[in-house]
Amino acid sequence: MAVPFIDLKRFEPGLQDAWNQKVKELSANTQFMGGPEVNSLEETLLKDNQTKYALGCANGTDAIQLALRASEIGRGDTVLVPDSTFWATFEAVVNVSADPVTVDINRNDLQMDYDLFCEAVTKFKPKAAILVHLYGWGSAKLSDFRKFAKENNVLLIEDGAQSYGVTYKGESIYKNALSSTISFYPAKVLGAAGDAGAVLTSNDAIAEKVRSLGNHGREAHYAHGSVGWNSRIDTMQAAYLNLALKHFSSRMKSRQDTAKKYRDILSSMNIMTVAPPEGYVENGYLNVTIHEASRREELKKILGDKGIGFGIVYPGPVSEQKGASDYIKAKVGGENAKWLSESVLNLPLFPYMTDSEFDEVISALK
Ligand SMILES: Cc1ncc(COP(=O)(O)O)c(C=O)c1O
Repeated sequence: MAVPFIDLKRFEPGLQDAWNQKVKELSANTQFMGGPEVNSLEETLLKDNQTKYALGCANGTDAIQLALRASEIGRGDTVLVPDSTFWATFEAVVNVSADPVTVDINRNDLQMDYDLFCEAVTKFKPKAAILVHLYGWGSAKLSDFRKFAKENNVLLIEDGAQSYGVTYKGESIYKNALSSTISFYPAKVLGAAGDAGAVLTSNDAIAEKVRSLGNHGREAHYAHGSVGWNSRIDTMQAAYLNLALKHFSSRMKSRQDTAKKYRDILSSMNIMTVAPPEGYVENGYLNVTIHEASRREELKKILGDKGIGFGIVYPGPVSEQKGASDYIKAKVGGENAKWLSESVLNLPLFPYMTDSEFDEVISALK
């Protein structure tokens, strides 16, 4: 039996009918911009994550750019980013005309390394840093990152594109961030029916600027206090997310259960599966296994031959992307991002994966 890497077609009972009905209603009323669906989504996001503001926008990349611009990051400013992340993190820094410095990751939690971050802050005096919460958890040193950044006047933006639903020390990972960003790309744990994103913050000034920048720098309909762009969240996407949120806890639980089952079984097979650090409850976004490079190649072949999907997240460090060379200001630390890119393999993990699909993956690995 073939098993896909992800399958997003496993709608909860009633969700697809409710969505079809919603599309009909919104179309009949030509309710395509803003309106109650967007307000209701923002209200749910801020309540569920205990932030003062939740501001919908067009996608997760824009969310980072909005958070950077709202923190007054621009031309000539240095911004630290992890050397292992989705390219959008680096891209966002360049798109606001700032200069990215990559910082290597930690081998245990696979997030930006805290000691190297401190070293980079001392050496480069960056105006901002983007800490990315990858794979469904975050850094073991999250509290230390926030504290050190504050003490050293570094504006810490948290790219939480992958971390919807993650808790840290019993609270939403987004709650105590200066600003954090979300992607609702369909494959995320909370996915939309297209592109969408959000910025969460409890800072009044940041919230006001994000709202305005994402709507052409508007102060009134034809009064533009700054140069922003159009990054409004689409009403249809907000409506889909409102429906999906009703099922979010069971969807996430199903992912979490599979993530745990992988860890339990793979450890008895001597396959290393990375676990979230202490203090975290993961959202089950990705399974992360680590292999010797040559063995990974063998595994890829076996899985491919058996029709079992897998991911390599990510296949190379950010600093080694062709597009980085014109913009990267410096690279701090060693080769852990490179090591990860050569050893990581992600097994199928998606909501409502069946026992037989899971068993199929395990038997292929055996
Ligand atoms: C870590 C990270 N940052 C940023 C993004 C960009 O989000 P989007 O695709 O919604 O622009 C993504 C996801 O695609 C991501 O995984």
